[in-house]
Amino acid sequence: MMKFFLLSLLLAPALAAPADADPTATYDYIVVGSGPGGGPLSAELARAGYSTLLIEAGTDQWDNPTYADIQNFNEAANDETTRWDFWVKHSDDAARDLKFKHTTWDTGDGTFYVGLDPPEGAKLLGIQYPRAAVLGGCAMHNAGVASLPEDDDWNRIVNLTGDASWEAGKMREYLKKIERNEYADADDPSHGHDGWLAISNSDPSWAKNDSSPAVKIMKRLAELIGQDPSRVADFANTDILGDFPNRDTMSSFFNLATHADKTGKRFSPNNYIRATVADPAKYPLTVKLNTLATKVLFNTTGPKPRAIGVEAMSGPSLYRADPKHIPGTTAPKTQYFARREVILSGGVFNTPQLLKLSGIGPATELSKFGIPVLVDLPGVGERLTDNYEGSLLGLGKVPIASGLITILFRTPNAPTPKRNIFAWCGAFSFEGFWPGFPTYYGPNQYSCAMVHIKPRSQDGSVRLLSADPQDKPEINFRFFEHGGDEDLAELVSAANMLRESWQAAGEPVLPFEELHPCPSSAEKKSNGTTCSDGKQAEYFKTQAYSHHATSSCQIGAEGDKMAVLDSKFRVRGAEGLRVVDASAFPNVPGFFPSVPTMMISVKAAGDVLAAAAAAKGADAGDGE
Ligand SMILES: Cc1cc2nc3c(=O)[nH]c(=O)nc-3n(C[C@H](O)[C@H](O)[C@H](O)COP(=O)(O)OP(=O)(O)OC[C@H]3O[C@@H](n4cnc5c(N)ncnc54)[C@H](O)[C@@H]3O)c2cc1C
Ligand SMILES: *[C@@H]1O[C@H](CO)[C@@H](O)[C@H](O)[C@H]1NC(C)=O
Ligand SMILES: *[C@@H]1O[C@H](CO)[C@@H](O)[C@H](O)[C@H]1NC(C)=O
Ligand SMILES: *[C@@H]1O[C@H](CO)[C@@H](O)[C@H](O)[C@H]1NC(C)=O
Ligand SMILES: *[C@@H]1O[C@H](CO)[C@@H](O)[C@H](O)[C@H]1NC(C)=O
Repeated sequence: MMKFFLLSLLLAPALAAPADADPTATYDYIVVGSGPGGGPLSAELARAGYSTLLIEAGTDQWDNPTYADIQNFNEAANDETTRWDFWVKHSDDAARDLKFKHTTWDTGDGTFYVGLDPPEGAKLLGIQYPRAAVLGGCAMHNAGVASLPEDDDWNRIVNLTGDASWEAGKMREYLKKIERNEYADADDPSHGHDGWLAISNSDPSWAKNDSSPAVKIMKRLAELIGQDPSRVADFANTDILGDFPNRDTMSSFFNLATHADKTGKRFSPNNYIRATVADPAKYPLTVKLNTLATKVLFNTTGPKPRAIGVEAMSGPSLYRADPKHIPGTTAPKTQYFARREVILSGGVFNTPQLLKLSGIGPATELSKFGIPVLVDLPGVGERLTDNYEGSLLGLGKVPIASGLITILFRTPNAPTPKRNIFAWCGAFSFEGFWPGFPTYYGPNQYSCAMVHIKPRSQDGSVRLLSADPQDKPEINFRFFEHGGDEDLAELVSAANMLRESWQAAGEPVLPFEELHPCPSSAEKKSNGTTCSDGKQAEYFKTQAYSHHATSSCQIGAEGDKMAVLDSKFRVRGAEGLRVVDASAFPNVPGFFPSVPTMMISVKAAGDVLAAAAAAKGADAGDGE
């Protein structure tokens, strides 16, 4: 606690731009949320000369080693300094959710119970879904994995909206614009070198050691995915962000890239925001930390409500997802005004909540809480989706010391020729999120963590529990709602391939004792066989987790009632209001959303500035 307050005090002056002195100031733009969606956008607008207010509920932790050193990502996601705890449901089936091994309960004495057998009187919280309230958003506590969507994820937006600016080839330009790549050649056309986001990868030379168990596993895996096992040392250095022909159908190994520099320093929108504020050019960016936006303000005299500002409360830990929140704590509301536009970038849970609190959302839901309906927009908070994740976890007889295998592959039962699984294998455990995650199983732990992409179901929701902006919404992912059996079969197929590769690890590692999805010891005791595909599917159905949520305010086709945004991020039915964050994607962009969200942030800045230029042109025209 002490450290937290001291840091905020120390950092406050660095971020206090001149406009901060006048609380009644009107800005050109107000951006709510400084994560991958809002952070880069706010900096771009200020750099273009427009006065911009960036409202962020969290603090600045740029020089706190928990956040600054990317290797501390698990510690960062657990840290109370920035943590927002959302307790989510995975389905409408309460009994199924209770089988999730890391279901979390409030014991009432200030501690959590995590597990299947809660103490008497404990109150069910649900499944933890971490978020970070901090300058830079979740890009400050995530693992920093940098990956790009499939080309079709972008091209699909062109199809939906007719807006050719989303074409995959054009979207790469945004990566090049933000990126300061540290591993590619200067003339590599896939990459940028002058941006604010350092992206690096790691030394792949471990993959040259043919006697290493990790390399033996990799060679077997190469055979299973149709690659040449003699070339694994090259594959371990393949650029995961590279622009290859047929990249989305290429089952292979890669060098994992992260948004960090070579020395392990994390890079995120935080760097860009700080650099913009500190720039001698005195760009007009005002950052208000510890400020919770509670409502968008509208002028309702015209045919469509026009966003003219934001109401917010200031003070630390006002939101009830913040574990430091002290019950009963509240603060007066201040109004901030925007001459041009308001942009919401609170992330996939908070943006739909804020829209609904402001009168934009499904009319029946808003009326239930006495919120006057400005725009009946049924898609707000709906069609929430996420990649399913699960892992194969075991214990070797000795530690497998070196080598993180990164693989993107297609299982034989995938519905298209495209890859459907991202996995990384190494001496770690990752089984999802709960207070205190992950479990350490000792030095012999080994796992392959899998991300299944393109879930067939997009039925999650973010819905209000009250009209109080300090309250959290109700979040239900409705995993496997339809097409679940097919999705699960793909996960099982991937697990079977990965397990088979493990058997190549050789002495002295073998045999592995598998902990899940097919616990070796339990199986042997029961009937002496390995577990069935059906049993594995049941395991993944109850134990799947996720952390790449998107699409709760999605871009969609004209005429689609559930579409919340048009292709320029404008909220349908309103004026002067956009949503720019992970909630805007029509589906999860590939494997990991952080870099893609930064890319659309910069794209959106172009759209906002183009609108400003057009308005200026119109004004000039009027004057003539
Ligand atoms: C533990 C974890 C690990 C992850 N690892 C990876 C990874 O390795 N690679 C990857 O690509 N993705 C990863 N992700 C996902 C990725 O970080 C997110 O998809 C991404 O940050 C989403 O960006 P965003 O701008 O939509 O939202 P966020 O990053 O959530 O940012 C939203 C910001 O808005 C602020 N805010 C919200 N509401 C308000 C309000 N009312 N008023 C003021 N401020 C508000 C929040 O404090 C926050 O700072 C991970 C996520 C988690 C949780
Ligand atoms: C876009 O539409 C065209 C024509 O209908 C179709 O062939 C193509 O597969 C679509 N692409 C995506 C990514 O949806
Ligand atoms: C190669 O791997 C073996 C087995 O793990 C190990 O003993 C040896 O030290 C490694 N060699 C190098 C050069 O790292
Ligand atoms: C609201 O919009 C109308 C035009 O529709 C304008 O005349 C009026 O000044 C606006 N009011 C505020 C408070 O912005
Ligand atoms: C062994 O047990 C598992 C479940 O524990 C079951 O799925 C499998 O069918 C059983 N095999 C046989 C041969 O009974």
